[in-house]
Amino acid sequence: MTDPELLLLARQARERAYAAYSGFPVGAALLGRSGQVYTGCNVENAAYPLTICAERTAVVKAVSEGEREFEAIAVVTATGATPCGSCRQVLREFAGSKGDLRVIIADLDGNSNTYTIEELLPHGFTPDQLG
Ligand code: THU
Repeated sequence: MTDPELLLLARQARERAYAAYSGFPVGAALLGRSGQVYTGCNVENAAYPLTICAERTAVVKAVSEGEREFEAIAVVTATGATPCGSCRQVLREFAGSKGDLRVIIADLDGNSNTYTIEELLPHGFTPDQLG
């Protein structure tokens, strides 16, 4: 699975977003170490705080299917937005001790940037710190 392929899956997932209130659809595609891809979109709710972000939808789908180790996540929005703080923390949980999970961000024109989760959440709280 190449990064452009993962971005295409994220872009397609964005089409399934339920962004009834914000009008800001987000798509994600999470690549597991097994090679399986788990897609996600944001799912909003009339009770606004119950909204689930695209990245966390993908993580919850993957973990509930038995996969816990990931190589990369692609995220596509109209503006090339980076993941929110809550999603960074949830991604960090499953990014391994070095936090080298790649986060590939793109807009609809195909402009993209790649970070590691450690770069997006430096010195974050990790499972290791529970001792
Ligand atoms: N959103 C995501 O899906 N992922 C993020 O990392 C940032 C925000 C969603 C939540 C809400 O449905 C919409 O974008 C506007 O905040």
